[in-house]
Parts: sequence; structure tokens; C-alpha cells
Amino acid sequence: MDRILIALLGALAASVLTTGPAAAADPEAGQEDFATYCGDCHSTSADMVNRKGPSLFGIVGRKAGTVPGFEYSDANRQSGWVWDEDRLRGYLPDPRAAMPGTKMKFDGVADSDEAEDIIAFLATRK
Ligand code: HEC
Repeated sequence: MDRILIALLGALAASVLTTGPAAAADPEAGQEDFATYCGDCHSTSADMVNRKGPSLFGIVGRKAGTVPGFEYSDANRQSGWVWDEDRLRGYLPDPRAAMPGTKMKFDGVADSDEAEDIIAFLATRK
């Protein structure tokens, strides 16, 4: 009896550990968050439409400041950045602090779970 109980407790502990607090980023939630925070200024459709901001189709892994027909700030265009996931992680909470001189007039995404979800969504747009 004790052995079964111990085995059950072990299994329970293992499942709690593997599904712990660091839940995986959710691209579907990210799509909604993107619409809320970014959609007024950015499209992610494959036709590369620019709005107030440049198209973000294919943004993950793209060199900064390279969408044709969009007039970037010097800060963005000359940053030399590549928008990999870590770069986005550093930028989205406070874009103007991360890239002084950017013309992206947006205060940032304070909630790191929301930012992770948005990055996961953007990674699907390619
Ligand atoms: C008020 C409009 C606005 C909002 C809201 C906005 N952006 Fe932007 N974004 C811009 C503009 C304008 C630029 C160009 C910045 C520059 O040239 O300095 C830009 C640039 C970017 C770039 C760099 C693109 C490139 O090709 O180098 C990324 C990445 C980006 N935005 C992501 C986001 C995300 C993700 C959100 C939502 C969480 C967001 N933006 C919200 C206007 C906006």
C-alpha cells in the first residue's frame, strides 16, 4: 500500500514539475495580444503592407530596417540589429529605451508573458 502511495506521489510531483509555472508561449494568445497592442501600426500579412510601422511579416530573424518602401529612423536602420527572439525580448518591454531615437511611438508590453506570446505569434508569420 505504502509503495503505491509513494509511486503516486512521485508521479504527481513529476507532473507538477514538468507543467510548472514557466508555461510555454502561446502563439494564439499572441495573435490576440498583437491585434491589441501592435495591429494599428503593423500588419503581418504576406503582402508586406506597411502601415504607420513596417510590415512584420517574417520579422523573426530579419535584419532591422530592411522593409522596402518604409522610411525608418536612422536609429533603426543603422542599428545593425537582427530581430531574433532575444532581440525582440529586449525591445518590446520598452522600445524607446532599448533603441534610443526610434520613431516607434509605443510604450511597450510590460507583461512578459504577453510579450512571449507575441514573439511566438510573430515566429509563425513567415
Ligand atoms: C503607434 C504605432 C506603433 C505601434 C503601436 C507599434 N509599432 Fe512597431 N514600429 C512602429 C514604427 C513607426 C516603426 C519604425 C521604427 C523606426 O524606424 O525607428 C516600428 C518598428 C518596429 C520593429 C522593427 C521593424 C524593422 O523592420 O526593423 C519591430 C520589430 C516592431 N516595430 C514591433 C512591434 C510590436 C511587436 C508591436 C506591438 C507589441 C509594435 N511594434 C507596436 C510603429 C508602431
